[in-house]
Amino acid sequence: MNEFLILKDFCDEYRDFGNAHMVDFIHGDFSQKYLNSGMLGDEFRRKIDACKELIEKKLTKVEDLKKELKSENEILAPDSPKVKDMPDKKSYEISQLSHLIADVCQTTGADHVIDVGAGKGTSTEVKIDCVGDVVRPDCLPGVVSGRKSVLVGLHCCGDLSSVLCHLSEIIEEIVGLVLVPCCYHHLSEESELEGNSKIDRYSTGIARGLTKEEIANSEVQKTDICERFIGFPMSNIFRNQNLILGQNARMLACHSEDRIQSDSSLKSVFFRALLKEFLMEFFPDFAVDADGKDVRVGKIFAKAAKVEKDDRKMFEEYVKLAGKRLKIPDINEEYLKKAGEMLEKFTAGQKYEDLREIEGLRNLYAKIAEYLILADKMNFLEESVKWRKSAGIQIFDPKMSPRAYCLLAYK
Ligand SMILES: C[S@@+](CC[C@H](N)C(=O)[O-])C[C@H]1O[C@@H](n2cnc3c(N)ncnc32)[C@H](O)[C@@H]1O
Repeated sequence: MNEFLILKDFCDEYRDFGNAHMVDFIHGDFSQKYLNSGMLGDEFRRKIDACKELIEKKLTKVEDLKKELKSENEILAPDSPKVKDMPDKKSYEISQLSHLIADVCQTTGADHVIDVGAGKGTSTEVKIDCVGDVVRPDCLPGVVSGRKSVLVGLHCCGDLSSVLCHLSEIIEEIVGLVLVPCCYHHLSEESELEGNSKIDRYSTGIARGLTKEEIANSEVQKTDICERFIGFPMSNIFRNQNLILGQNARMLACHSEDRIQSDSSLKSVFFRALLKEFLMEFFPDFAVDADGKDVRVGKIFAKAAKVEKDDRKMFEEYVKLAGKRLKIPDINEEYLKKAGEMLEKFTAGQKYEDLREIEGLRNLYAKIAEYLILADKMNFLEESVKWRKSAGIQIFDPKMSPRAYCLLAYK
């Protein structure tokens, strides 16, 4: 059995929790559903630990990889002239990544690096040939026939990372891959694509950040595979098991290290959940949109917090602002009083503490969801007969750069 399947089993078992929307925290009685029921007790934590242990075992350490590669390329010092004028985060990321790119070039004999979505250029150790044109599942601009290339991408959003894994495998000239994925919520999953237009898929996943003109130009030559490409899962092992993670769980995975929430962000989650409860009780027609999705109220928490300091008054102001935004005609003083009473009723109980606890458990889940997404690409590279070596590496300190995992492969 593929050991990574324990990650899938975990995400399957707790998929409902991983995809729960905190806006339903009160209305859906999450205290009962997830806490009092014992669903997220010792067994949940034991499984989280087992998943973490597995990933630690499966990740390759940079030092070990460098030994294997007999590498002499070193991590750039922060004051190296090559990176010192960059913002701290970028300088750090490039320092950590560029020596590995140089290693892969050295070991494969490639002198051509294709850096996708390069921004300022990922590598300073080797000459980079940046790619300006749009990458599609059927086309990698920058490939020169017969010339060995290493394919590089730092923080490629959603499906773009999956496309690069796919292209690296099928294009002969690509002899190495160094890739740091990000924005997992943009990954496409088969179960979520029904009914979406072609352009939606293309612009949210593969061409995120590109201009409309760039997308339109590439559309002209676009072939069928661009419509059919599914970013997650990619590996046979997970595809054969019909793995589904879900959009909200992928969104959680994006924040796995940086979700330490301040009191004010917890309070904003609490207010939004209370607003839903309030709307369901008094104005149910305004609680969800025509597609049954929760209405968007924008950044009204910050506005309410600016005007009022007392929690009850702040929530009344919040409801007033929501009423304006949702164009609810008759939220008068009487309703605002009811809103205030609702806040007091729920804060007097255990609710706010429950919310804090559930957010903590969501953080634990988030890490495993991120591991699952990483494991899928590790499996995909491993399944390919092309690569002499493929590995997943934690390349960054997540405190410095939260999307911290690198996928590396070479012939
Ligand atoms: C999150 S940014 C990362 C940029 C840079 N590597 C860095 O780390 O600062 C992702 C980049 O990929 C580019 N991009 C998105 N889809 C693309 C595609 N299909 N082909 C080429 N570039 C693409 C975007 O324009 C954006 O510059």
